[in-house]
Amino acid sequence: MKGLILSGGKGTRLRPITYTGAKQLVPVANKPVLFYAIEDLIEAGIRDIGIVVGDTRDQIKAAVGDGSDFGCRITYIEQEAPLGIAHGVKIAESFIGKDRFVLFLGDNFLRDGIVPLVERFADDPEMNSQILLYRVKNPQDFGVAELVDGLVARVVEKPKEPRSDLAVIGIYMFDHHVFEAVNRITPSARGELEITDTIQYLIDHGLRVHPHVIGGWWIDTGKKDDMLEANRLILDTMETQILGAIDATSEIYGKVVVGKGAEVHNSVIRGPVIVGENARIINSYVGPFTSINYDCEIIGSEIEHSIVLENSKIIDIHGRIEDSLIGRNVEIYKSPIKPKAFKMMLGDYSKVGIL
Ligand code: TTP
Repeated sequence: MKGLILSGGKGTRLRPITYTGAKQLVPVANKPVLFYAIEDLIEAGIRDIGIVVGDTRDQIKAAVGDGSDFGCRITYIEQEAPLGIAHGVKIAESFIGKDRFVLFLGDNFLRDGIVPLVERFADDPEMNSQILLYRVKNPQDFGVAELVDGLVARVVEKPKEPRSDLAVIGIYMFDHHVFEAVNRITPSARGELEITDTIQYLIDHGLRVHPHVIGGWWIDTGKKDDMLEANRLILDTMETQILGAIDATSEIYGKVVVGKGAEVHNSVIRGPVIVGENARIINSYVGPFTSINYDCEIIGSEIEHSIVLENSKIIDIHGRIEDSLIGRNVEIYKSPIKPKAFKMMLGDYSKVGIL
């Protein structure tokens, strides 16, 4: 079996972070979302992985390399524009060949991995495809699967009147028949080759698409709040590990990871929290479900339930920062000059909530 991870796309829902960075590299518990997908594939015994890349190809390649750090082989597949998930499959045909494969959307996040599902699919040549389904409260916002006699009978994109609560999520398994489908379907109204049309094509041509309803949680990290939720769930599974220096005036509660070279001085950290290498937490409070990345400085401030990317500085902010996703090299500081005023330089589509 091979793996195919889609890591291109537009990332409009995560602007402005995605103006300068790939959304698949936004860290959850200080590790890029994409790395969890690679690790899920490897855990399932898949070592030959293709990654579809777009505008952010250079960053993805710099972060993942040739896969040797993970113990796998990575082949990059260039997508000239985000023309749809099924388009990402189409351009991977020569990489996949006749192998069965797992398609994993690079921003999707599963608690329980895919090991038994891959085993089941690999062992059963009767299955042409296996798709993962997740029960949701708002099926009208998803591709929705209808099941008949244990097989997927229909997949409808964002139905006004959903016939089930089973959303099709971003992990799928296919055999080579999928290439006939992606080569025959035509672009949808939004100009993309759709994965739901691909699955429906397989069903309409008598191929067997098996459903698997997952039990553990699944998150599509395409939006800020989903990213924070993934961060919350992963931080909750960590164990305490203190590699940096915590002085006697600081108090640490719960599960806290402090990276090498990090410094905590006269502060309170209430876990689960991760503090990256060489970060400095001084005269501050860091509350539950917060990931502070490497080289950050939190000084004289309070922060909780947030993700801060590398090398950002939060200095002397009065009032607690919560539910926030803060990018790389950001500076938030108390304005030193009179008249008292908010002074900002914000990228397009930035969102700032002020008391
Ligand atoms: P989406 O989240 O559906 O699309 P997007 O990345 O364009 O984001 P937004 O809706 O916020 O604009 O994509 C799911 C995954 O598939 C994501 O990792 C990006 C990837 N992808 C590609 O690699 N190529 C594509 O053509 C598309 C549409 C998505």
